[in-house]
Amino acid sequence: MTNWLSDRLDKICKLDAYVKPERIKDSIKLDANENFALDGKFISKIALHAIKQTDLREYPLEQFEDLYRQLSTYSGVDKKYLGIGSGSDQIIELILSIFGRNQKASIFTPTFSYFINRCELHDIALDRVPLTEDAELPKLEFLKRAARSDIIYICSPNNPTGNQFGENLVLEIIDTFKDKLILIDEAYVEFGNYNLAPHIAKYDNVVILRTLSKAFGLAGARIGYLIANEKFAEIFRTTIQSPYPLNSFSLAVATLALSYERYVRQTVELIKRERKRVFDELLEMYGIKVFRSDANFIFLESYDSYGRILSVLKKEGLSVKAFGDIDGHRGCIRVTIGTSEMNDKFLKSISKAI
Ligand SMILES: Cc1ncc(COP(=O)(O)O)c(C=O)c1O
Repeated sequence: MTNWLSDRLDKICKLDAYVKPERIKDSIKLDANENFALDGKFISKIALHAIKQTDLREYPLEQFEDLYRQLSTYSGVDKKYLGIGSGSDQIIELILSIFGRNQKASIFTPTFSYFINRCELHDIALDRVPLTEDAELPKLEFLKRAARSDIIYICSPNNPTGNQFGENLVLEIIDTFKDKLILIDEAYVEFGNYNLAPHIAKYDNVVILRTLSKAFGLAGARIGYLIANEKFAEIFRTTIQSPYPLNSFSLAVATLALSYERYVRQTVELIKRERKRVFDELLEMYGIKVFRSDANFIFLESYDSYGRILSVLKKEGLSVKAFGDIDGHRGCIRVTIGTSEMNDKFLKSISKAI
């Protein structure tokens, strides 16, 4: 094999790969921040309807227009500010592969590990600023360090810690760095306190990343979108993105789902109420630290109880995301907020372990 290729493959082999959740048959899935408060029958009904509308012999054309129209209504911005992709993962990948070359990115840690993996894959140097013990952003340190980078990634609310930094703080960062590409990942924004879409037209360097995988319960359909200034969004749609990034079926599913925004919002409200209940109950438990969440999941440090908690949860058929020790936090676990029944089962099981 040519040397350059085998060298490159050897280097890629050594990188951390994104770890997908393990599928445990019949388990209660609280490991990937999906929305199970949405009725499965509702999603099936939409999917059947979408199949009927879809002729897979044809390339999708007007289906893109339909989705842009619905996304524009939903997000409250004109469609000239939008771009779509096969999940926001794919949009992140495209942006990093086009704009990341020879650049340096600032992140805080812990944050969305896929973003870190993709920076490493594309040889984008990473400057990592640790969050405080309580997962707050050390503002001065971050501003100082970010000043030396080209790209800034802010996950808002943050995965895995769940918190959303204050709106004024995020706007201050954006206002400070007009010369940098700023990516605001709003995958969980429906569960948070604010969104930055209303500000987008003012900035030519800010890109908001969104997805229908979380609140809209469509992780399997792979639909993401971005909101950016007119020039960035247009170049993304016409030149950077491939011509048919979503299949006709996913396009139809997404368009239909967005027309049921009211129902989706009801499930979001239910999850927020459940989040408070789960948070309050976890707070009462001995030997764990629970983090305030503005997302559809809760992050906790379980210290020496980590192994015991995981083994009890597994025995009782519950899947959660187990991180171990990360960025100064010990025995970290992230649990998705599910239906009341799922959450009851989780609370009962974890209380047995501590
Ligand atoms: C912060 C964050 N951004 C983006 C994504 C990717 O979402 P999608 O399913 O649209 O690729 C996720 C998925 O877990 C996420 O947690």
